[in-house]
Amino acid sequence: MSKVDVVVGCFYGDEGKGKVIDYLAADADIAVRATGGDNAGHTIKVDGVKYAMRLIPSGILSGHTVGLIGNGVVLNPKVLMDEIANLTAHGYDVGRYLKLSEKAHVILPYHRMMDRALENTRKAKIGTTGKGIGPAYCDKYERSGLRVEELYAPGFRDRLKTLVEAKKALLKFYHPQEEDLDDTLNFESIYDAYSAYAQQLKPYVCDAVTYLHKALEQDRKVVVEGAQATLLDIDFGSYPFVTSSNPTIGGILTGTGLSPLDIGNVYGVIKAYSSRVGEGPYVTELTDATGDRIRELGHEYGTTTGRPRRCGWLDLVALKYAKRVNGLTALSVNHLDTVGKFDKIKICVAYDCEGTITEDFTTNLDVLNRARPVYKEFAGSFGDLSGCRTFEELPRAAREYIGFIEQYVGIPVRFIGTGAEREAMLVRDKQRTIC
Ligand code: GDP
Ligand code: IMO
Ligand code: MG
Repeated sequence: MSKVDVVVGCFYGDEGKGKVIDYLAADADIAVRATGGDNAGHTIKVDGVKYAMRLIPSGILSGHTVGLIGNGVVLNPKVLMDEIANLTAHGYDVGRYLKLSEKAHVILPYHRMMDRALENTRKAKIGTTGKGIGPAYCDKYERSGLRVEELYAPGFRDRLKTLVEAKKALLKFYHPQEEDLDDTLNFESIYDAYSAYAQQLKPYVCDAVTYLHKALEQDRKVVVEGAQATLLDIDFGSYPFVTSSNPTIGGILTGTGLSPLDIGNVYGVIKAYSSRVGEGPYVTELTDATGDRIRELGHEYGTTTGRPRRCGWLDLVALKYAKRVNGLTALSVNHLDTVGKFDKIKICVAYDCEGTITEDFTTNLDVLNRARPVYKEFAGSFGDLSGCRTFEELPRAAREYIGFIEQYVGIPVRFIGTGAEREAMLVRDKQRTIC
């Protein structure tokens, strides 16, 4: 039976997961999204066209891969409809290649309102994307969420009415001065809009667990596109400065219905530097001109919100943690071209926690906020990498940089990004061990 390859982010998101999935999709029948919602933004450049994928797995861009939205996703139907329209306009046969789990949870207008209301009341802001992700997951676990399949149930209207009225009361509590809540959360308008979405989405809805397992039994190739990343994980990230799902390997299983035995390679994606959008600790953050230069060279502005991303050097302490938590079998290092524009490049190899040197990551905020990076310096100035088609063609300094990452973490770097375009990726032998 065919094994499933999984792609997960190792740091704070935006490592270039979409680009890796896009590559793997060339040989895949199905690409699955397991967690998160339209807080994700996965950018892929195909033939000069830039696609910012929020809900539909990037694998669909191959033109022959089914994009399956799994049960672990929280789905804003409006965003999905816009994405379908955009892909259709670019010639993709979405009707044939999109599938949606009946168990995915639906984001309703009050989730976004709650997200913003909660963020406004927080003294220490999380910097959420404002897409309603946290409140939608809250409702899921509190058992007052709405699954896709319920859009078609006979009691849908009554159920929606109960949910909307309950949330209205809650929002009034947060916004006692808000007078037009009856307009903004007008039940009839929400019912009409979501009834229309239900009809539009119907052709895509399926029993995704059965669909996936039957595909595997028929030896079809499945890949999973992780969203968000390890340090944004609700359990393993820098809580509370995290998202509300488990983007790590456990969430991949519960968000799809795959079993641990189904999993083959787990690819961890990093950039050759690091970035974070939103609040929270970030040990290797550079708040100086070097950080600004990374942001400009790497075009580090959020795909989803347009916010400038915080930037810094690569953090191998965090990467080793991501390897442990996810069981990474190999790495993808993107933006080697970007980091190679610096004369000297630094990599964080340990944390100095008030005199105690450690290579073990912690999610304890107190320790993280005080930790200082211990750096090792590497030669940069890699030059133009666009002509390099194999690892061996990379300049020596670039090979040494990659080799050090492999040695430190103890797993091979299989993919190396040398540009934003689909073709700008070096792929190394699957069987090889580390340098
Ligand atoms: P994701 O959320 O992990 O899929 O990543 P994003 O799409 O949010 O952010 C990654 C950004 O880096 C996108 O703008 C990509 O086009 C770009 N990118 C990915 N790999 C490379 C690379 O190797 N070099 C350069 N210069 N850009 C890259
Ligand atoms: P991709 O898949 C980067 C961050 C937000 C915020 C925190 C919580 O593109 O890598 P949320 O709206 O999820 O409640 O916000 O998580 N965040 C991301 N940062 N990339 C993402 O996705 C993110 N998804 C959420 O900025 O700090
Ligand atoms: Mg992104």
